[in-house]
Amino acid sequence: NLKAVIFDLDGVITDTAEWHFLAWSELAKSIGIHINKEFNEELKGISRMESLERILDMGGIAHTFTEKEKVELAQRKNKYYVQLLTQMTPENIFPGIRKFLEELKKNHIKIGLASASKNAPSILDALQITEFFQVVVDPEKIAKGKPAPDIFLSAAEKLLVNPRNCVGIEDSIAGLQSIRYAGMFSIGVGTLDIMKEAGANLVLESTAELTLERLNGMFNIHAS
Ligand code: G6P
Ligand code: MG
Repeated sequence: NLKAVIFDLDGVITDTAEWHFLAWSELAKSIGIHINKEFNEELKGISRMESLERILDMGGIAHTFTEKEKVELAQRKNKYYVQLLTQMTPENIFPGIRKFLEELKKNHIKIGLASASKNAPSILDALQITEFFQVVVDPEKIAKGKPAPDIFLSAAEKLLVNPRNCVGIEDSIAGLQSIRYAGMFSIGVGTLDIMKEAGANLVLESTAELTLERLNGMFNIHAS
């Protein structure tokens, strides 16, 4: 049975997947690269430096920057992003998420966060939902990022729950792979085709569809 729900943050709890995209677009534009939404799907769930590498590779100019310059580019992107974050309020929580967190808490289902973002703790604070999370995995302590299972496994371990009793919720291709490799039941939030192809066990078009009853139903069918 279901004992813990482990959330991704960006694009699952709030619309920061879009804000990351805006900040990367701005940075990319300044060095003559255009990134589109399709390419952006590959950046979701991927760390800051790794995302930069992928963008530079796509533009065919990775070799023109030193490591130090790459760090500066990544810092500039984060500056754009943090600037966007200053407008964040609890209003920015996706539909149904707060209610769902309350429902989980009331039913003693453990709650964890498995986000690759170093900005995650400050975003949870701005959304005023930090109190719900028993565990927020620090991505800097995880050797291999998504699609490796490490971050979801680490959340489960810290929550003292067997991965088989966990549900992971993601909006990214890399993240859904990570959940699958961790041996957890996965929920993909987003476009049906993309989420199905990424291997989500259950696809929801909106976070408003997240209820404990629904999860328990799906989870029990899956487990039996
Ligand atoms: C998440 C997002 C990515 C982002 C990464 C690092 O995985 O989906 O788009 O690049 O976190 O975020 P950070 O806030 O540390 O730059
Ligand atoms: Mg995400």
